[in-house]
Amino acid sequence: MKNGLFITFEGGDGCGKTTQIELLDKYLKNKGFDTLLTREPGAKGLGVKLREILLNYDGEVSPQCESFLFLADRAQHIDCIIKPALKEGKIILCDRHTDSTVAYQGYGRGLDIEEIKTLNNIATGGLKPNLTIVLDVDVKTSMQRVGKEKDRMESAGIEFFERVRNGFLKIAEQEPKRVKVISSSDTIESIHKQIVELVENL
Ligand code: TYD
Repeated sequence: MKNGLFITFEGGDGCGKTTQIELLDKYLKNKGFDTLLTREPGAKGLGVKLREILLNYDGEVSPQCESFLFLADRAQHIDCIIKPALKEGKIILCDRHTDSTVAYQGYGRGLDIEEIKTLNNIATGGLKPNLTIVLDVDVKTSMQRVGKEKDRMESAGIEFFERVRNGFLKIAEQEPKRVKVISSSDTIESIHKQIVELVENL
């Protein structure tokens, strides 16, 4: 791979990732870097169809099926978008990736964590982010920010989101070099500064 960088953003729903990714994107572009802003699930093409099912399908979805759909989206995203962009030397800013499946389907839905990690590895071909930023949000704030119009995932309930939050914190504890936690209760400007510092260290 050329000099590309792969940075992922993770955290509970309503943690403020989107705002921070956009601020970082602007900052990097101003410095002359070539960036690619992308997301999971559903960056484009087939992924958009999978996203539609994952977030809006209103019938029964088994946790295993849900995992495989997120993983299918990931495999497509890695092969068709992320790897080519890395080869072109881009800085990729990705809204959610492998850690979301560990936190939501593993810790949240209760699937086996090691199995999810193995499946993640298959979906990504072993490619890991250079840096992962977890914006830690308490569940009450998260639910307030999401509001009343909830998608399928956001309707999973408070206890589910407590498990997801703890899941992200556990991941960060286990991989402290790659995964950095920032409290989403800081101001937007302060969070942005902390993120810039982490990215400049790369
Ligand atoms: P999205 O609208 O992108 O949420 P957010 O703006 O909070 O990122 O919806 C993505 C939803 O899918 C979110 O609830 C997290 C969930 N998700 C998983 O459960 N597993 C995964 O592997 C991924 C990538 C997302």
